[in-house]
Amino acid sequence: MRITKILITTLMSIITVSNANAQQKLNSEIEKKIDVLMAKMTIEEKVGQMNQYNGFWDVTGPAPVGGTAEQKYENIKKGLVGSMLTVRGVKEVKAVQKIAVEQTRLGIPLIIGFDVIHGYKTLSPIPLAEAASWDLAAIEKSAEVAASEAAASGINWTFGPMMDISRDARWGRVMEGAGEDPYLGSKIAVARVKGFQGDNSFKSPLRIAASAKHFAGYGFVVAGLEYNASEIGSNTLYNQVLPPFKAAVDTGLRTVMTSFNTINGIPASADKYLLKETLKNKWGFSGFVISDWASIREMIPWGYSKDEKSAAISAVEAGTDMDMEGGIYVPHLIELMKQGKVDQKYVDDAVRRILRVKYELGLFDNPYRFLDEKREKEVIGSKANHEAVLDMAKKSIVLLKNEKQLLPLKKSGQKILLLGTLASSKNSPLGSWRIASDNNTAVSVLEGLKNYTGNTLNFVEGPKLTTEEPTFLTEVKYNTTDKSGLEEAKQAAKSADVIIMVLGEHSFSTGEARSRTDINLPGLQEEFLKEIYKINPNIVLVLNNGRPLSINWASENIPAIVEAWHLGTESGNAVAQVLYGDYNPSGKLPMTFPRNVGQIPIYYNNYSTGRYTDKDNNVFWSHYSDAEKTPLYPFGFGLSYTTFDYSDFKINKKSFAKGENIQVSVTLKNTGKYEGKEVVQLYIQDEFASVARPVKELKAFELVNLKPDESKTVSFPITEKELGFYNNQGDFVVEPGSFKIMVGGNSQDLKIIEAELL
Ligand code: BGC
Repeated sequence: MRITKILITTLMSIITVSNANAQQKLNSEIEKKIDVLMAKMTIEEKVGQMNQYNGFWDVTGPAPVGGTAEQKYENIKKGLVGSMLTVRGVKEVKAVQKIAVEQTRLGIPLIIGFDVIHGYKTLSPIPLAEAASWDLAAIEKSAEVAASEAAASGINWTFGPMMDISRDARWGRVMEGAGEDPYLGSKIAVARVKGFQGDNSFKSPLRIAASAKHFAGYGFVVAGLEYNASEIGSNTLYNQVLPPFKAAVDTGLRTVMTSFNTINGIPASADKYLLKETLKNKWGFSGFVISDWASIREMIPWGYSKDEKSAAISAVEAGTDMDMEGGIYVPHLIELMKQGKVDQKYVDDAVRRILRVKYELGLFDNPYRFLDEKREKEVIGSKANHEAVLDMAKKSIVLLKNEKQLLPLKKSGQKILLLGTLASSKNSPLGSWRIASDNNTAVSVLEGLKNYTGNTLNFVEGPKLTTEEPTFLTEVKYNTTDKSGLEEAKQAAKSADVIIMVLGEHSFSTGEARSRTDINLPGLQEEFLKEIYKINPNIVLVLNNGRPLSINWASENIPAIVEAWHLGTESGNAVAQVLYGDYNPSGKLPMTFPRNVGQIPIYYNNYSTGRYTDKDNNVFWSHYSDAEKTPLYPFGFGLSYTTFDYSDFKINKKSFAKGENIQVSVTLKNTGKYEGKEVVQLYIQDEFASVARPVKELKAFELVNLKPDESKTVSFPITEKELGFYNNQGDFVVEPGSFKIMVGGNSQDLKIIEAELL
C-alpha cells in the first residue's frame, strides 16, 4: 500500500547527525619526539621536509625544477628534501636514504613514495575492473599484495587509492577509480586503505602509508577533458565527491593528494575550504597533504597565482603540506618565512604532520627497515602473489551477454578460433599504471586458452590493432586503414565452432592524459567484428578496456560478450578460466555503459526531472530526440552462467521512528545449473526532501554464493545512515517522510517497497 506523502515544508524536522568524527588519535610519545626535533630545526630544514623530488623517471608530467641527479643528491645532503618518489628497489632507495640519514645535520629519514595503483610488479586488474568484483575482501587482499611488493622494494608510501568518483567515460582516468557510485566507492576506498596500511600500526614492514587522491573533484573535469576545471555544485560535492575520502580518513588514512583541477575557480592545492576546513578541521585528519605533480606551480598557468611566491603562500596557507616536484616551497617558502610573509604556524603544522607519518612508519626507529634485499627477492613475484592477482582477475570479469549457450565453452570437441591483436598481447593486459613491472609479462588470452587442451585452438591475428606498439608516453595510434589479415581471419572463421574475438582499447589509451571523445571500439575493430559475424555468428566478444565503451552493434548482434578490462599479470588465465566455466563470472558494472558518447555524463543515481512523464504524452518530456536516454548496460549489471530469482522482499515495519530496528529482507534462489555468486544490491530513494534526491542511491550490497537450487534470505538494516544525505551546507541530515526501498541484481531491475520515517 502506498503511504501518504508527508508535506516536508510543514512537517520537516531535520535531524542533524553529528559530523564530529572522532579526531584521529595521536600518539603522545610521537608528538613529544616531534616537539624535540622541531625545536632543533632551521627554517631551511623545515621547508626541506615539505619538498618532494622525483627520482629519475619523469613520466607523469614535465619536471620543471628537478635538476640533475647530482643536484638532487646535493639538496638531500643540505636537508632540503623530505621525500622522493619513483626511486625504487632496495639498492636505489638505500642509496638516497643513506644520504638523508647519514649526511644531513639532523639525519631525518626520507619517506619514499610511489604510484602503486594496481599492483607493483605482480599486477592486479586495473582498479575499475577490481571494483566490478564488488568483493571487498578480494580488493583488500589485492592492495595488501601490492603493498607487500612495494614495501619489499623499499617503498614506504603509495599514491593510492584513487577514489575519484566519475560519471564520464571520456576521462582516461576512470580506469584508476572505483566507478560512478559514492557508496561502492567508499567501501572500496576503505578496503584499499586497509590493504595498504593494515591495522595502521605499521608494525609489519610489508605495509605502507596510503594516499587518497585526488582531492577533490578531478573525476568531474568538464567534458572529460584531462586537467580541465571541474564545476561542481554543493549537492554533488558533498554527496558524490567527498564521501569516499571521508570514509578513508575515518579508516586511518595517512596521506591525501590534491588534484590538478580547480573547483569553482579555486585550484585544489589552494583550496582552504577543502583542505583546511573540511579535511583537517572537520574530519580530524592528522596525516599530511601532498600536492599532485607540480600542481602548486600549475596554479600560475591556471591564472590563479601571479607568480611562484604567491603560489607558495596560497598552497601552504590552504594546507598543502608537501610540494611534489614543483620546486615552489624550496626556495620560496624559506625566503617568505625569513621575510615574515608567511606565518610560521603554517609551516610548523605541515612539518609536524610529515614527521608524524615518518615516525608512525617507524622510519626514525630504523630508516632501513624497508630495505632488506633478501625479503625483496622472496616477496616480489611470489607464487602466492600470482595466485592472489589471478583470483582478483577472475572476480573482476563481467558477463554482459550470453545467448545461444555459447558459454561456458565445452572442454573438448570444439574447434575454437581466437582472433584479434589483443588476444595475443602480453603487454596491453598489464594496464596503464605498471611502472615497476616489465613490459610483455602478462599471460595473454592465447596463452591462457592453451592450458585447455581438449579443443583445437587456432589463432589468427586479423587486422592489426595499432600502427606501432604503444608506450606509456606516446598516444596510441589505432590502425584505421590496413586490412591485411582480414581475409585470413575470414577464411578461418568458416570452419570454427566458436570464435573468440578479443577487442577493445590498448591499455595505454587509458589513464592519465588519455581522454577520448569517441568511445566506440577504436580502429578497424568494429568492421572486423561485423565481417566475421557475416561468416560465422558464433562469436564470443571478449572486451579489453579501461572505460565503458559504447558497443551498440555488438550488444545487439553478438551472442556472448565478456567484459575483461585490463586484468593484469594473470589476465589470460583469468579469461580462460571464465570462458571454460572453471570460474562462474560474478562481476557487476561499477559504471554505466552509455549507448553513445552524447549521453555522457550518464549515471544511475540521476534525478527524475520535473518532466518524468512517458513519451506517449507529448514531446515535451525529458529525452533525446535521436537516441534512447537509457544506458546500454546499467550500473550494477552483470550476468552469471546460472540464474537467480528474487522473492519475498519485505520490511519488518512500514512506518517507523528514528532509531527503530528496521530490516528489509529478500530471498535469493539459484535457479540455474551452476554454482554462482550474485551481488544483492539495495537502493533507496528519499521521495521528497529539502534537497531533491536522486531516483535511487545504492545503500548496501551483499555478495552471496549459492549452489543450484539453494536459497538464502539476505537482510539489510535500514538506519539513519541509509536514509540520510548531505544538505547544501555539508551537514548530514535525515528527514522524515516517505522512502522507496529497492532490491535487485542491478540498478534497473528492482523490487520496490514503500516505507515511511515518522
Ligand atoms: C598523477 C598522480 C600521480 C603523480 C605521481 C601525477 O601526474 O596525477 O596521480 O600520483 O603524478 O606520479
